[in-house]
Amino acid sequence: MCGIMGYAGERDAAPILLEGLQRLEYRGYDSAGIAVIDDDGVIHIAKGAGKLGALRSGLEGVYPAGRTGIGHTRWATHGKPTENNAHPHTDCTGDIVVIHNGIVENYLELRAELRDRGHKLRSETDTEVVPHLVESYVGGGDDLLTAFRRTIARLEGAHALVVFSAKEPGRILAARVGNAGGVVVGYGVGEMFVSSDLSAVLPETQRVTFLADGEIASITAGGAEYVDFGGAPLTKTPQHVPFDPVSAAKGAYKHFMLKEIMEQPQCIVDTFRGRASFDPPGVELEDLHIADDVLASVTRVVLVGMGTSMHAALVGRTYFEQIARLPAEVDNSSEFRYRDSLIGPETLVISVAQSGETVDTLEAMADAKRHGAPQITICNTPGAQTTRVADGAVLTRCGPEVAVASTKTLTASITALYLLACHVGRIRGVVDDARLAELLGELVHVPALMGSVLKTEPEIAAIAHALSSRPNFLFLARGTQYPMAMEGALKLKEVSYIHAEGYPAGEMKHGPIALIDKMMPVVALALDDGTREKMLSNIEQVRARDGIVVGIVTEGDAEIAAKCDYALSLPRTTPLLYPLLSAIPMQLLSYHIALLRGCDVDQPRNLAKTVTVE
Ligand code: AGP
Repeated sequence: MCGIMGYAGERDAAPILLEGLQRLEYRGYDSAGIAVIDDDGVIHIAKGAGKLGALRSGLEGVYPAGRTGIGHTRWATHGKPTENNAHPHTDCTGDIVVIHNGIVENYLELRAELRDRGHKLRSETDTEVVPHLVESYVGGGDDLLTAFRRTIARLEGAHALVVFSAKEPGRILAARVGNAGGVVVGYGVGEMFVSSDLSAVLPETQRVTFLADGEIASITAGGAEYVDFGGAPLTKTPQHVPFDPVSAAKGAYKHFMLKEIMEQPQCIVDTFRGRASFDPPGVELEDLHIADDVLASVTRVVLVGMGTSMHAALVGRTYFEQIARLPAEVDNSSEFRYRDSLIGPETLVISVAQSGETVDTLEAMADAKRHGAPQITICNTPGAQTTRVADGAVLTRCGPEVAVASTKTLTASITALYLLACHVGRIRGVVDDARLAELLGELVHVPALMGSVLKTEPEIAAIAHALSSRPNFLFLARGTQYPMAMEGALKLKEVSYIHAEGYPAGEMKHGPIALIDKMMPVVALALDDGTREKMLSNIEQVRARDGIVVGIVTEGDAEIAAKCDYALSLPRTTPLLYPLLSAIPMQLLSYHIALLRGCDVDQPRNLAKTVTVE
């Protein structure tokens, strides 16, 4: 959730920290702050409530001097998004500075203890106990690293923590405790970086290490040393991460969301390129690391994910049932643990996670691991935690997704699940050459079809114009399209703040129909995928109650189009692949409605790109 950036080197730290925070702002934008230490050992702190722009304006172009520093963007959990609650936080002396991502679950108890011992805590945050605890151990004679380790031992919850001290200038300590988000250490030449996100360090260096739970990095300009929480030294070798930072730039687009919607055909091609072959037909997934006999022996698939990734998992469920012929279930990662679900080595668990750092998904994976289930993650972030926990991965190849609302990683995840289902079906002997050729042959046309759907943007913008002031929307669909109705509603909620619900269309008459009147737009996915006739009945029922029908229909289906107030047509593909096309008009509709309502499209209020708190 919160973004973390640190620098130790020969350059001025402040501009580097602000640049890094700019790339991290999608994680949280309630407040921002930096702390740097100058050559005389004096710490300078600057903070601002609201977006990073407020901090930049407050600085008025005059950056505090210093070649070591840390910075933070906050997504508020404990305490309002005020300047006083903004990180970095300090101890009583102002010599120890901390930034934090996660929640100190026992902070009330620790605050009371620290207050009793005379510490003056000034904010409402849970984080502030950390510098004061470090201070108390340093005061007792510990060096910074020992004090940090002892502090961590006092904290309950999961965290990424970064600290530095005027007593040991030039050194930054960073720790990962549990699954509250990643810590990446970047190796430059004569300079080092630390961040919560790979994308923030990549423009500076592609040589990185990732901290695992229980690891601390001690970073100076010359390199990094690692210890575990017991203080035992660890050896970690930097790896080279092939990621193109240029693709994170907005380019000619007004918003990242629009850019990322438009990138989808390329992301689909990139995700199947080199993995799907056509003559003879084959699927090769390079990072699976699960033996064929293990995959052949599983009797069930359980897919987990949150938000958009969960919607991709719901489409994946159909793929596993219809292509690989395996019983499949989907759960919100956050609900999975409450089920005491009966899984073991015979269940293949598949997590879907754009970031690979969503704490709910990591906890579900930890649970699956305890039960001995083989695991595969569908992930867009090379090196992310889900890829390290799972036995294997199918990486989507979208490049960084910067807009908080996921778009391109939805369709790329669906594509990866399709390939995986083909692969598992092949191993299980239920997908023969002819069927595989058919499945892959259909997939290969999708990017071009997506391109033609993207060209309908002006039509979609016109519909957005007509409907942007409506306070509520319903999205209805059946079968494979039902997850896309949920996704359409989620996208609209996220970026336009309009209340929207996605329903299986059959449910409409069991309650939601009471909402329909002449003010209610109903987006109905009525494609020739086996659900058309039933969706036509739903459309009639909405019309009979004066609802406004926005139909997403198959090209040439004049009958349904004539029943809709607005019709958007999609080119024909197979029922299994329609979700890759139907996602697009709903993404563009949400985008244009949000624009018309003056919303912050790329950074909607209250959201964070990566949710690392439970
Ligand atoms: C979707 O637009 C949101 N960004 C959100 O629902 C997201 O899909 C969810 O938080 C899961 O994130 P992950 O894929 O990184 O695990």
